[in-house]
Amino acid sequence: MSDMSDVRVGTGTGTGTGTGTGIGIGIGIGAGIDIHTAAAIEVLSAEKTYPDGTRALQPVDLRIEEGEFVTLLGPSGCGKSTLLKMIAGLLAPSDGRLLLWRKPVSLAQASAQKLAFVFQSPTLMPWASVQANVRLPLDLAGMSRAEADARVAEVLKLVGLARFANALPRALSGGMQMRVSIARGLVTQPQLLLMDEPFGALDEITRHKLDADLLELWTAKKLTVVFVTHSIHEAVFLSTRVVMMAARPGRVIEEFRIDEPHPRTAEFMVSPQFSHHARLLQTSLLRASVDTTEAAL
Ligand SMILES: Nc1ncnc2c1ncn2[C@@H]1O[C@H](COP(=O)(O)OP(=O)(O)OP(=O)(O)O)[C@@H](O)[C@H]1O
Ligand SMILES: [Mg+2]
Repeated sequence: MSDMSDVRVGTGTGTGTGTGTGIGIGIGIGAGIDIHTAAAIEVLSAEKTYPDGTRALQPVDLRIEEGEFVTLLGPSGCGKSTLLKMIAGLLAPSDGRLLLWRKPVSLAQASAQKLAFVFQSPTLMPWASVQANVRLPLDLAGMSRAEADARVAEVLKLVGLARFANALPRALSGGMQMRVSIARGLVTQPQLLLMDEPFGALDEITRHKLDADLLELWTAKKLTVVFVTHSIHEAVFLSTRVVMMAARPGRVIEEFRIDEPHPRTAEFMVSPQFSHHARLLQTSLLRASVDTTEAAL
């Protein structure tokens, strides 16, 4: 039901394709060639050197279609967060361009609140209730209280926290706080969810539960997700595509399609296909890490 071609096809006509970008790192040849794809994100030779001279990213070219679940994987310092922040418009590239739905990132954001960024730590207001935390982006946008409350109630139900609407964050477990953070991201009804190691600080079982819930959300809301993790297993379980990066300087070295059906279940995690993908990623990650070690010597 959540087959990727379902999600992608049927959105992309009449949106003015053909900007002549000349990108493509051998992507787009997955199962079922799909001509009607609509690019949600285009990273066009975007690179980043920080003001202190650190070259965080060599020019990156990356195209992400609507409805994809793309994971950025790679050793520490390879520029995953830098790339994600540039996609979010939180950080400007030193050179190159980034487009969201074919518009420069800043314009795309100004035109609508279509994007949500979820950080590794929940960053909640400790003095405010769960519902007040989740309502924050709507309050900031000036939405009426009645409309906002209805949206908050809906999204809390979605992440399984309806019963905790009046609780303070400190009364919640780490996993529940992370759900609040995700709810706050979803309450603006974004089409694009950018997540930087959102479950990195959680125990394995909680992480897996949230991974499964996230996939359900992705399917139900037809989201486009860009997800950063250090976990190969998480990457295989979640993604339709994994982008492997290496460090010093940060760059994309390889891409992998995880052409496996959805919904993905716990059985998928113990299947031969899962091991196959995990092994490929492991080998690639080792290569990416060797590069890093050699460059550092
Ligand atoms: N504000 C900054 N100023 C200078 N250098 C920075 C800044 N932010 C990141 N860097 C450097 O840029 C490189 C890429 O950093 P980035 O945080 O994007 O990596 P990452 O892949 O997200 O790493 P991790 O897996 O540890 O989160 C690193 O060498 C880092 O030290
Ligand atoms: Mg990071």
